[in-house]
Amino acid sequence: MNIVKPLVLIALSSSLLLAAPQAKKNAELQNIKKIGKSSSMLLLKTLGSKMKKNMKAGGPMQALDFCSQEAYVLTEDVNKKLPNGIRVKRISSKYRNPANKPEADEQAILNALQELKNSNVILPKQIVEKVNATTYKYYKPLIINKAVCLKCHGNITNTDLKRAISKRYPIDKAMHYKMGDLRGAVVVTIKK
Ligand code: HEC
Repeated sequence: MNIVKPLVLIALSSSLLLAAPQAKKNAELQNIKKIGKSSSMLLLKTLGSKMKKNMKAGGPMQALDFCSQEAYVLTEDVNKKLPNGIRVKRISSKYRNPANKPEADEQAILNALQELKNSNVILPKQIVEKVNATTYKYYKPLIINKAVCLKCHGNITNTDLKRAISKRYPIDKAMHYKMGDLRGAVVVTIKK
């Protein structure tokens, strides 16, 4: 009988020892997700609300002016607001602005997401990539989920708009999307 207590204690403490690093990892991952979620939402809300305003005020031509002149600047503004070591951006395999071209690891993630989508998988809301010991990338997949997206990313019927887009983006790839297509992702790079 006497031996039971110490054995139980040993069993308990060793399982605690094993659990501690795992718990730390889980807490770290939760934190990465929290930062990724809030940073990506901040960018999407900032861009989305301004886009809506411009669309209402002057239709797709004014909204295009806004996108081409402000989207990148606003993204930089959001980055200035974020803590040191955290950066947010948008990427797409079929990018309009070459500045939104994915890096090699990001392209691999987009390819994987596209492959899942082709297999009728409902995409996760978020993905975390461990880049190295100190860097994570949080991805929020972006789907063409509103008809308004198609005005500028679908089969563009408005010839003035079409001309204006190709003038500003001579190597535009971000057309001919359909409702429900994977458009790209928001990427939040988080350095410890
Ligand atoms: C009024 C036209 C317009 C509408 C409507 C529009 N976009 Fe765009 N979109 C643009 C332009 C212009 C750019 C390039 C912005 C830049 O220069 O940074 C862009 C860029 C993007 C990018 C960054 C990757 C890239 O191709 O450069 C994503 C992602 C995107 N749009 C998704 C969407 C989604 C999703 C919707 C619908 C909610 C939408 N867009 C609606 C014009 C539009």
